[in-house]
Amino acid sequence: MKGVILAGGLGTRLYPLTKVTNKHLLPVYDKPMIYYPIQTLINAGIDDILIVTGGNNAGDFLRLLGNGKEFGLKHINYTYQQGEGGIAEALGLAEFFAAGDGVCVVLGDNIIERNIRSAAEAFRKQKQGAKILLKEVPDPHRFGVAELKGDRIVGIEEKPKQPRSKYAVIGIYFYDSTVFDFIKTLKPSERGELEITDVNNRYIGKGTMTYDILDGWWTDAGTFESLLRANQLVAQTGANNL
Ligand code: DAU
Repeated sequence: MKGVILAGGLGTRLYPLTKVTNKHLLPVYDKPMIYYPIQTLINAGIDDILIVTGGNNAGDFLRLLGNGKEFGLKHINYTYQQGEGGIAEALGLAEFFAAGDGVCVVLGDNIIERNIRSAAEAFRKQKQGAKILLKEVPDPHRFGVAELKGDRIVGIEEKPKQPRSKYAVIGIYFYDSTVFDFIKTLKPSERGELEITDVNNRYIGKGTMTYDILDGWWTDAGTFESLLRANQLVAQTGANNL
């Protein structure tokens, strides 16, 4: 399985912090934000990694990370997303890199306390379809929200005003290689983006989506409130603990 980190987008919700740099290069406690999703993949045994970046500061990723020596990697792959066409559009750029393999996709602003080793192991055995991770949160309306019936997931709504559960879909996804065919058929949403939630709902419709509940805390870091929270959580407990 290959790893894809999505670190494009313009980070407008963090303006002016993102006026002269990319959101994923901002500090979260003692490291740049992008370090955390890289470590998440490495801790799950995934070391063939593509970073999708964008905007005016893409070159800074290469300066910061090089070939990933600091992480014990021999090589990191990079590609560039023109504009901000959505998470699914950014993932579509990974098709050639994936080359028929399954992928573990991590949003560049998602940080976890522990690890996704058991989910990655389960997905390796699953062989086809997709797997997502859910976390109970107090503010589900900010995220993709899962609708559950018994232990089945029957749908996901993106940022619903009236969430059908407290389970947010976190920004770590496992897909088989058919994801790239799904993405090619997507239409932009009202906010003009190709939505990862539409991709996930396709798998749910086909009956090939599984889910796990994530252990430990999870946060995004894409707003002032969540960036502050991410800093506090990492300072208190550390992130990516095995
Ligand atoms: O954090 C989890 C949530 O992430 C999920 O619960 C939602 O279902 C999912 O849509 C997403 O919601 P956000 O609206 O918070 O996503 P955001 O636009 O902040 O993008 C998250 C990351 O995805 C961002 O850090 C970089 C990457 N991205 C985003 C866009 C729009 C790209 O690489 N390219 C893009 O065009």
